[in-house]
Amino acid sequence: MEIIEKAPAKINLGLDALYKREDGYHELEMVMASVDLADRLFFETLTENQIIIETDNSFIPVDQKNHAFAAAELVKKKFQIETGVRIYIEKRIPVAAGLAGGSSDCAATLRGLNRLWNLGLSNQDLADLGSEIGSDVPYCIEGGTAFVTGRGERIEKMPPMPQCWVVLVKPKMSVSTGSIFGSLSFNSIQHPDIPALKAAVMANDYDKMTQTIGNALEGVTIQKHPVVQQIKDRMLKFGADAALMSGSGPTVFALCDKKTRAQRIYNGLKGFCEEVYLVRTLK
Ligand code: C5P
Repeated sequence: MEIIEKAPAKINLGLDALYKREDGYHELEMVMASVDLADRLFFETLTENQIIIETDNSFIPVDQKNHAFAAAELVKKKFQIETGVRIYIEKRIPVAAGLAGGSSDCAATLRGLNRLWNLGLSNQDLADLGSEIGSDVPYCIEGGTAFVTGRGERIEKMPPMPQCWVVLVKPKMSVSTGSIFGSLSFNSIQHPDIPALKAAVMANDYDKMTQTIGNALEGVTIQKHPVVQQIKDRMLKFGADAALMSGSGPTVFALCDKKTRAQRIYNGLKGFCEEVYLVRTLK
């Protein structure tokens, strides 16, 4: 039997870092939303006791460094599963981009194996397992629009963000989340107004939302990679209602309520960067 799971990308409408914790992680406040750009994962039981990852993207690892592999290994160990699994990852989300592609694949693997091996785990159980692998994984178990706090493990579901068009632009370089958090200075940090953003999303107020999106990591990544600022400027020049870096970057997203304008931004950025996507928000 084959099982298929979709793994959508996320954007951060808001990301604030409150302080560095004793465990080395940062205490965060984030508003996250899923967008209609997704990987697809196919799961098949193997009689041999092994985990095989296959993918159409030659840049992603197929061993323990792949979060889908790590998820399968964790589930097999926790529930003493003696059969194996083949996981094929159809990769569509840019890699190391700030869109939680790897975390979403990890979450999809936990959901997929729960079904494949009839484990009967709740979404909370899956989120708890996922937090052992990565901070964004608990959110990715259910996705949608959510207020996420702690290290990333406390999830408060929110109504869907105001519907709009999203242009995603991923510049060529990849960014390590750890190194961006490592360079964050609380002396120069720009804190976004997360309560105002939350209120705008709750009220389905598109204009207020575009005025309040913000990311405390953006300045750090722009300092290392000025191209992020250049992409933002171009998006605004082509008519974006708002433009912001997602996660630790380097992907920048533009929000637009009109498709024609979103298309103009898409066309305008296509010559500047190779990886440009025009997508919708997910309900
Ligand atoms: O949890 P994950 O492995 O995805 O995090 C990657 C890195 O990002 C961590 O090693 C840490 O340096 C940083 N991080 C952080 N605070 C968080 C989440 C991640 O400092 N809440």
